[in-house]
Amino acid sequence: MRLLVCGGAGFIGSNFVRQRLARTADEIVVLDKLTYAGRRESLRDVEDERRFAFIHGAIEDANAVAGAIAGADAVVNFAAETHVDRSIAEPDAFVRTHALGTYVLLEAARECGVRYLQVSTDEVYGSIEAGSFSERSPLEPSSPYSATKAGADLLVAAYQRTYGLEVLICRGSNNYGPYQYPEKLIPLMILNALHGDPLPVYGDGLNVRNWLFVEDFAAGISHVLEHGVPGEIYNVGGPDECDNLTVVRRIVELTGADPSLIEFVTDRPGHDRRYSLSSDKVAALGWRAGTRFDEGLERTVAWYRDNAWWWEPIRSGAYRDYYERQYYRRLAD
Ligand code: NAD
Ligand code: DAU
Repeated sequence: MRLLVCGGAGFIGSNFVRQRLARTADEIVVLDKLTYAGRRESLRDVEDERRFAFIHGAIEDANAVAGAIAGADAVVNFAAETHVDRSIAEPDAFVRTHALGTYVLLEAARECGVRYLQVSTDEVYGSIEAGSFSERSPLEPSSPYSATKAGADLLVAAYQRTYGLEVLICRGSNNYGPYQYPEKLIPLMILNALHGDPLPVYGDGLNVRNWLFVEDFAAGISHVLEHGVPGEIYNVGGPDECDNLTVVRRIVELTGADPSLIEFVTDRPGHDRRYSLSSDKVAALGWRAGTRFDEGLERTVAWYRDNAWWWEPIRSGAYRDYYERQYYRRLAD
């Protein structure tokens, strides 16, 4: 296949591109705006591959999209603003990328008659105290991030019903693994633990997430792309659920950090208590997540330990300003 992968310089997108190039004969074009979260370094090991090309551009830029989509058999859209805390502080870019960007991509896919896969999230369902969300659960997003992702999903579905465009939607649970920007819980805690910095746990630390190793999500998306029924939504969840405090304590053990670094700080507004996905539908297509959380977390800690070249420039750059804004008052209280 010739794939256009939007947002392929981010965490999940770069893992997906690396895996597709290794496992298939695909030709891949990445279109990425290179926001603070998008990094060419995450694609360093595939840059010289002749089946790979990179285009710097935004999905809301119709000209950039028209150039990038030419000759593609399918579009896989990872491009998004993805951090809930940033969406609470500054929702603007979330609305632009998720609403306008998705629309521009869908129009280009329609024009070229190209299959379209939207990478979405379990957060569109909101929070669930007991049981698990199925693909038929109502959409009750809590944050500007998840609300705009839900809006994008509805637009994607409308393009199939209205225009007959072949679309697929994959809703993933919380991913973790190599190349994740250290604003998210697991890489933030690993790097802070390795540096002896405080480990800021929001609220009581008992919010639960359904953890999915990034290589499993990448494989799940490939599986849906190849075997999914057009027009359908597929939940792609991890095998294990875990509360945040347990995750952080496990990272403390794996890094040998001092447990007294753990600090309970002011909670996130509108903080979803628990996410849980039923993945029965994608399992019926023949996919399941192979990596248990304990194993994946160990591999992730080892990767961050061994790959300072990747995260050192982040920690010494604009990330520091973000970190101060997000945590200074929380940690001082
Ligand atoms: P990320 O923040 O690491 O990467 C996002 C990428 O999109 C970056 O390379 C960025 O430069 C690019 N991008 C942002 N805006 C763009 C625009 N307007 N045009 C082109 N490129 C743009 O995100 P991630 O964690 O890899 O998430 C990828 C996708 O998976 C997102 O759609 C997200 O909603 C979804 N998702 C993430 C998770 C998770 O746990 N991280 C779970 C389920 C679903
Ligand atoms: O569920 C899928 C979603 O998972 C994706 O769609 C999002 O793009 C991705 O960012 C992630 O969202 P979360 O909000 O669940 O992830 P985050 O890593 O920000 O937070 C995970 C949990 O950890 C959440 O309960 C908040 C808590 N937390 C987070 C940070 C950054 C802390 O306690 N302290 C922190 O410093």
